[in-house]
Amino acid sequence: MSRKISQLFLHQFCLSTIFLTALCFSLQTDTINSSSSGIIRDGDTIVSRSNKFKLGFFSPPNTTHRYLGISYTLPEQTVIWVANRDTPLQDSSGAAALSLDGNLVITDTATNQTVWSTNAAAAAASSPTNTTLQITDTGNLIITNSSSGIKIWESFLHPSDVFVPTMSTSDNIYTGKKVMLSAWENDTDPRRGSFTAGLDASHLPQNYIWRRDGQPHWRSGPWNGLVFIGIQSSYFSFLDGFVDVTNDSAGTFYYTMPEWKIVNRVTLNSSGSLVETMWDLKSKRWIPLWAAPENECDVYATCGPFGSCNVEDSPVCSCVEGFEPASVEEWARGNWSRGCRRRRKLECGGGDGFSRMQFVKVPDLAQHFYSERIDECRRYCLGNCSCIAYAHDSNIGCMFWRDTLVDVQKFKGVGVDLYIRLSVSELGNHREKWLFIVILPVVGFVVVAVSMFIAWYMLVKRKGDKIQDRSVAEAGHTISSLSPAISSIDASVGKVDMGELPLFTFEIIANATKHFHVTNLIGRGGFGHVYKGTLPNGQEIAVKRLSVDSGQGMQEFTSEVIVISKLQHRNLVRLLGGCVEKQEKILVYEYMPNKSLDVCLFDPISPTKNVLDWRRRFSIIEGIGRGLLYLHKDSRFRIIHRDLKPSNVLLDQEWNPKISDFGMARIFGGNQDHHDTARVVGTYGYMAPEYALEGRFSEKSDVYSFGVLMLEIIKGEKNTHYYNEDWSVGLLGSAWKMWSEDNGLGFVDESMEISGLEKEIVRCMQIGLLCVQEYPQERPSVDTAVSMLSREIAELSTPNRPIFSQKHSAFTTQLGCFTTTNDLTVTELDGR
Ligand SMILES: *[C@@H]1O[C@H](CO)[C@@H](O)[C@H](O)[C@H]1NC(C)=O
Ligand SMILES: *[C@@H]1O[C@H](CO)[C@@H](O)[C@H](O)[C@H]1NC(C)=O
Ligand SMILES: *[C@@H]1O[C@H](CO)[C@@H](O)[C@H](O)[C@H]1NC(C)=O
Ligand SMILES: *[C@@H]1O[C@H](CO)[C@@H](O)[C@H](O)[C@H]1NC(C)=O
Ligand SMILES: *[C@@H]1O[C@H](CO)[C@@H](O)[C@H](O)[C@H]1NC(C)=O
Ligand SMILES: *[C@@H]1O[C@H](CO)[C@@H](O)[C@H](O)[C@H]1NC(C)=O
Ligand SMILES: *[C@@H]1O[C@H](CO)[C@@H](O)[C@H](O)[C@H]1NC(C)=O
Ligand SMILES: *[C@@H]1O[C@H](CO)[C@@H](O)[C@H](O)[C@H]1NC(C)=O
Ligand SMILES: *[C@@H]1O[C@H](CO)[C@@H](O)[C@H](O)[C@H]1NC(C)=O
Ligand SMILES: *[C@@H]1O[C@H](CO)[C@@H](O)[C@H](O)[C@H]1NC(C)=O
Repeated sequence: MSRKISQLFLHQFCLSTIFLTALCFSLQTDTINSSSSGIIRDGDTIVSRSNKFKLGFFSPPNTTHRYLGISYTLPEQTVIWVANRDTPLQDSSGAAALSLDGNLVITDTATNQTVWSTNAAAAAASSPTNTTLQITDTGNLIITNSSSGIKIWESFLHPSDVFVPTMSTSDNIYTGKKVMLSAWENDTDPRRGSFTAGLDASHLPQNYIWRRDGQPHWRSGPWNGLVFIGIQSSYFSFLDGFVDVTNDSAGTFYYTMPEWKIVNRVTLNSSGSLVETMWDLKSKRWIPLWAAPENECDVYATCGPFGSCNVEDSPVCSCVEGFEPASVEEWARGNWSRGCRRRRKLECGGGDGFSRMQFVKVPDLAQHFYSERIDECRRYCLGNCSCIAYAHDSNIGCMFWRDTLVDVQKFKGVGVDLYIRLSVSELGNHREKWLFIVILPVVGFVVVAVSMFIAWYMLVKRKGDKIQDRSVAEAGHTISSLSPAISSIDASVGKVDMGELPLFTFEIIANATKHFHVTNLIGRGGFGHVYKGTLPNGQEIAVKRLSVDSGQGMQEFTSEVIVISKLQHRNLVRLLGGCVEKQEKILVYEYMPNKSLDVCLFDPISPTKNVLDWRRRFSIIEGIGRGLLYLHKDSRFRIIHRDLKPSNVLLDQEWNPKISDFGMARIFGGNQDHHDTARVVGTYGYMAPEYALEGRFSEKSDVYSFGVLMLEIIKGEKNTHYYNEDWSVGLLGSAWKMWSEDNGLGFVDESMEISGLEKEIVRCMQIGLLCVQEYPQERPSVDTAVSMLSREIAELSTPNRPIFSQKHSAFTTQLGCFTTTNDLTVTELDGR
């Protein structure tokens, strides 16, 4: 009884500051042994050392059945493991203890019957053994042989429905032995339900949810050393260079959940969803972070073989190119299970080609071999008649499919390109039609236009230079405004003039990065990966390697070389050199130990967030302002960055900000004030409205991004996060609202110490709000903004309400229509 009371006290005490370490430790044991005192009766618990997890009897909601289980010591009963899930006790007469043979055994003391046992083979086989049972701070229950100290059994290898940090699911490629989660029957009954989930390594390692009949219900797509490439949201998550899927020499592959600073877990719920939740300290409840399957298209093979699923389409299913519904009638009824069939037979030999499908979740059952070059994948696939499709990922290499393409999904702006083998007649047909519809009129038009221009030009020329024609001037102007970034480059041929930039050999860079090993990977952008490296002299470098197969990146590469090699400023990242060899295009920068601002600021697991006190944040804001000022005004050129956002602001050892990633930057001629472009590149959330909606960019669009950045730094939250929750409020909207209600401090990051700094922070907020006003002419120029920050300008005007707080729906609809009618490409939806 006294034990219960002390437990209760403990409970209250520890929970007020979850998992308080020192105070709770000495009161409670986390270990029992084979002695007679080591019995856990109903009502007793053993608690892990720092009081995170406990082992004891419990009842699920709405039932009186009793189970032995491990749960969090949180106010809300959260069970992560159940021992006797299939054999419940009817009342509180259960007791658990280590038996003579060393197993953990649950006995019904009313009947003296064994209800459950760990049945660890080693223990069962031998004669009496003294063992020790311990519950660890990670939530693992471990039985060790007291005399040898060897682990005999652990609950992590016999999971229930919850996956917690440091736990692994695994699969042995030789024996097929898997450690996997199995769902509860329903919320009140922990018996094995209809779903299991875990890793499968028989092809490329990937996670699955399986149904009772063993058929997949969901899959993550292959692991590429960094992410599971079939989970759309994983492309947007922060990367910290840790590797989660590992293998041992016995052929077992492990997927281990990384340990973060937050309290999180992944549950396979009884309806077959993997749901990641996090314990929210403020609201004292579990809040969802992520769930899979996320939508109809995520459910395995929704559209059947050779079908492709796109959540944005209605209906969601269509056939991949060159295929038609296997049964038109069933397809029309919305029964897609039979999928699609090929329209024209493959000819094999030389008679086939490939159609490209961009941004997809690759089909299941890929075979693969590593190659850097996508043309090798193509050659191999063409040369083998059983290959019906291929794809390339820069970490996995070549992937191939035979027989069928199942579970293909169209992603938005991320994913790999899938090349599907089709008969040339299918492709040729297509091409001819295209030729006919597009090329002919275009060629015709160009021929007519050029001859008209020549005729007209001759006419003008003959009249001498007297006539100043506006259209001539404008035509020349347009061309020159497009060309400076491209002037010294022949992008189509792939040649780059590296100017005075020091050149590295590929070999040096490969050695410095351990051959671009995934463990050296520190980031991943739209056009390639960034690796950490060490030169022979010990200097640390960051290496940006453009994907070999990303033709798109050429323009970004060259503009980055041109822009940044000519600039030098303490708030711009420094380019140390480059490498252009064969197909490789590589840029070498100074290495920034403190990573990028988004990691420090937004990553809930980042240990550095607390380091960012207001002084530091303010000096980061000032530094970014000065870097931007240099770009806009002080350098020999006028440069618009066009993609200013936290992931493009790197932090050096002393937390000085350095603007990076000039792939989108444009150099301006002397007297241009803005530029219109058909190609809108940038990142939602940071794009000024006139740029996002009309493609007009100017220095003032960079100022807008700077304003968003300032508000994010003050709030410590990402602008885009708000979009998911409440489109009508948004970060800018809530900043404006709180500021205009004289409650600016309500907006400020709660984890920041602000006493004595209130005025300064609110003033900074006001400057941020001035920068994000709707009309470019209302926004201060960057030199004005910098002067405001340094208080050279003391009086601040009153900001107008930002556009995205009120017209958001208009913005989205307009954006939608732009996407379909104009040439609007948004290269990244979010940071890397
Ligand atoms: C078992 O635990 C008890 C109490 O913690 C201790 O006194 C005893 O020595 C232990 N016995 C063995 C065999 O470890
Ligand atoms: C338990 O029963 C109550 C009342 O019938 C119900 O509202 C609640 O949803 C049930 N809880 C669970 C987890 O089934
Ligand atoms: C259970 O076993 C113990 C000793 O092993 C004995 O004393 C007790 O009477 C038994 N109880 C029942 C209900 O069989
Ligand atoms: C425990 O260790 C002892 C000594 O190493 C050994 O004799 C015994 O068989 C072990 N028991 C089990 C169950 O592994
Ligand atoms: C187990 O521990 C007890 C003392 O706690 C000891 O008497 C006994 O010999 C031990 N048994 C074995 C098999 O080591
Ligand atoms: C849960 O499943 C059990 C049988 O496995 C059933 O008896 C019970 O009614 C179910 N409870 C709910 C709430 O569905
Ligand atoms: C497992 O990892 C080792 C290196 O630890 C590697 O040599 C081996 O090829 C891997 N096995 C498989 C099947 O991938
Ligand atoms: C399982 O999780 C999904 C996704 O969060 C949710 O829609 C579903 O209702 C959950 N099922 C149960 C039984 O809680
Ligand atoms: C869909 O079609 C398959 C056979 O093509 C059939 O077995 C299945 O029952 C159909 N499903 C529905 C919901 O009609
Ligand atoms: C074609 O691929 C299949 C399986 O991938 C393989 O078994 C076969 O040997 C290959 N044939 C040739 C000619 O490479």
